[in-house]
Amino acid sequence: MQPYTSTFLKEQAQRTTPTRQFFYQHIKWSEAPICIDIGCGTGAITPELSSEDPAVTAIGLDIDPILLSKAVRMHSQHSALHFLLADATYLPLRQSVVSFCLSHFTMMWIIDRIQALKEIRYVLRPKGVFASIEPDYTERIEISEGQTEPLPDATYPIIEALQKLGADPYTGSQLPSELEKLGFHNIRSGILSWQFDADVMKAEITDEADLLEELGIHWVAPKFIYTPIWWIIATSERV
Ligand SMILES: C[S@@+](CC[C@H](N)C(=O)[O-])C[C@H]1O[C@@H](n2cnc3c(N)ncnc32)[C@H](O)[C@@H]1O
Repeated sequence: MQPYTSTFLKEQAQRTTPTRQFFYQHIKWSEAPICIDIGCGTGAITPELSSEDPAVTAIGLDIDPILLSKAVRMHSQHSALHFLLADATYLPLRQSVVSFCLSHFTMMWIIDRIQALKEIRYVLRPKGVFASIEPDYTERIEISEGQTEPLPDATYPIIEALQKLGADPYTGSQLPSELEKLGFHNIRSGILSWQFDADVMKAEITDEADLLEELGIHWVAPKFIYTPIWWIIATSERV
């Protein structure tokens, strides 16, 4: 089953726009001829990587041919934009050619994340930048109707659902130490703060309810959910 639709990816990308703007401040666009969007999906974000400087070539890579074909269809008018069917654990790129690599809600879905990070470090130029946005469900909060606080020791079905689908729900908090072990430098990380308005919250809850229902997992939708989303930025060399 496909856990993410084009609309879902687009809305998710909209919510993390300020964090990506923060990432882009670390890029010297005039020195960034190749930028990659790992696990680009439908290409909701990839065009941003080529919009700052016309000399930049942006490449979206994804393992899923269906999502990738949607990306190609949607962005066929951009000449500085390319899409490649590729596995992040075996990147079809030469060593030290990439200036910036973005991973937006992708690392959690890659089965061998360490191998993908090794590949990313291999293709990054000296002082190239890797930036990622990933959730972490360790500190997940759900508040049910009629309650004012989360239930103590609650186990949340969405975690089981993600694991069933092959994702790692604890990626966000693990990435910084994984990057350090692999020899990345200047590692900085934090948790996104954003305020859901009532409509966004409703949409989030509906998305999760649909996913759980499709997987046959029982869930009484709560009135409030919160999942910490981590941002992580690092360089391939000490800067
Ligand atoms: C939640 S989607 C995020 C898509 C996109 N980054 C966005 O934010 O709109 C996760 C993406 O990772 C891709 N993916 C999973 N494993 C991958 C791998 N080994 N190599 C490349 N892409 C992968 C999936 O096909 C999917 O498109």
